[in-house]
This record gives sequence, structure tokens and C-alpha cells, in this order.
Amino acid sequence: MPVTEAAGLTTTQAPFIEQAQKNGQIFIRQPYELYSEANQEAWRRLYTRIKPRWYRYANDAFLRGIDSLCLDADHIPRLEDVNRFLCPLTGFQAQAVSGYVPAFVFFDCLRNRRFPTTITIRSLDSLDYLPEPDIFHDIAGHVPMHTDRAFAETLVRFGECAHTAADCMSSIPDHSERSRVLTNVIRAMARFFWFTVEFGLMRSRHGLRVYGSGLLSSFGEIEHSIESPNVQRYPIQIEWAINQAFEINHYQPLLFIVDSFDHLYGLIGKLEEMAKQGKLNQAAPGEPAVNEHDLQSFLRL
Ligand SMILES: [Fe+2]
Repeated sequence: MPVTEAAGLTTTQAPFIEQAQKNGQIFIRQPYELYSEANQEAWRRLYTRIKPRWYRYANDAFLRGIDSLCLDADHIPRLEDVNRFLCPLTGFQAQAVSGYVPAFVFFDCLRNRRFPTTITIRSLDSLDYLPEPDIFHDIAGHVPMHTDRAFAETLVRFGECAHTAADCMSSIPDHSERSRVLTNVIRAMARFFWFTVEFGLMRSRHGLRVYGSGLLSSFGEIEHSIESPNVQRYPIQIEWAINQAFEINHYQPLLFIVDSFDHLYGLIGKLEEMAKQGKLNQAAPGEPAVNEHDLQSFLRL
């Protein structure tokens, strides 16, 4: 099927993206002209309905970020416009990608202050739930956090931690042992990222607030995460988070709380120390899965 304007850039149907994936391109441009009216309408509805909940449940850094980026409720953002506001603040930039990014490549992008950003958007009939990221999750959920210096430094530290973990692999001569250890290390890092950057809660003067982007981009779960008696909320403990499996297809029953971004930054230092000491080498089994591309990305240094 030829790439036409009518095809749009919908998560479930985007010939431009399919072609890029077929060509093996991870980093792409944002072909803004391909967004359909239905795509724009999806952004409009998502943004308009969640905005009041941000003011109730999101942390202050996120709310400042929304203002700093001048996001438009009526139009899908152009990444170049977002970056014009974002880059002078923290050096971060949103970089369009065609979809899945192998684990090390992803973390290395963070180290270089580039955030792999999905450019497709969910369809109008699945506004409430999408298992994979879309531009609403990435730009409205993640990128406002990247305007905050302390949070931005935390993301860079994740990237540095991935480099440290990859360096540790070179001391394991046996190939199958290296793969086994690396699978555990990636799983531990992915879990820590999940329970902080994606689904983290933070203390504030006003009570608990959301800073995780999976929550910030979900109309239903942002409220559920703070208000529901069915959610277990505990002060974060790194040894617990790295051994805790999670599932992506329902609201999270367990969330971890940090005190501040400085607290989170310090925890990544601890994660790095644990990687050096081999303490990530035996992460408990369970989700998330680590695939061959993730493994290879760490070994191809
Ligand atoms: Fe995300």
C-alpha cells in the first residue's frame, strides 16, 4: 500500500512506519503531513479530557513542563517545535523513532539527552487503553518531565548505568553465561525504569503526586493510582523493585513512592553500584521479557 495522506499515522495502521521498519530504520523523521483529521481529533480528545486531572494529580515539575513546552490541545505537536522549547532548558530532545528500540540503544539515547519518541497516535476507538506507546504517551506523558533539570539528570544517569552494566559483561568469557547474566541485568533495569519513570509516585506538600509517564498519559489510571484503595503504595526499595514482575495490560496494583528527584537520582547511583557488584545478575524471573535484540544491543559495544 503506498504511503498516502489518507493512511494517517495511526498506531494500528501507518504504512510510513511499516516501511521504515522494513528498511531497518529506527530513527526517522516526523512526516507531519501524514496525520489524518482522525489522528488530530484523537490528540484533541486525549489532551482535553486529561488536562484537569493533571492539575489535580501531577507533580509540579510536570505542570511547569506543560507550560514551558506550549503544547497545543488542538494539534499534535511537531517535534521540532517541542525541541525548540525543550532543548534550551535541559539539553533534551525528542527524536522520532519507528517503534521498538532495543534496550541499550534506548538507554544510550537517554545518556545523550535524546528521547526516542513514537510519532503514531492511537485510534479514536481505543483512547482508553493502548499497550504500546504512542505520541500522546511520549510527548504529553514523558517530555514535560524532561524540562526539569533534576529529572533530566536522572534519565542521563539511567544511560550511564546501562554503560556500566555493559562494561561489566566483558569480564564474563563464557557466551551462554554472559547471555544469562545480561538477561537478568536488563530485566532488573527495565523493572526499575518501569516502577519509577513510567509508574512512579512522589511525595509532595499536597500529598502524593504522579511523576510516572504511564500514569500521566492515562485518563483512568492517573486518578486510580492516587485515589483507589486497591492500589498498594510503598516507599521505594530498590531491591524490591528490581525483583518485582509487572504486567502491562491492566492498571498497576503496586506502585512505589520516592521522596524527590534527588532521591531518585541517588537510587540510580545505587543501581549502578549493584550492577558493578553483580547484584543484578540474579533478578527474580518473570516479566518483562528480554529479547535477542535487547541482548545484542548491550553486547555490540
Ligand atoms: Fe513510556
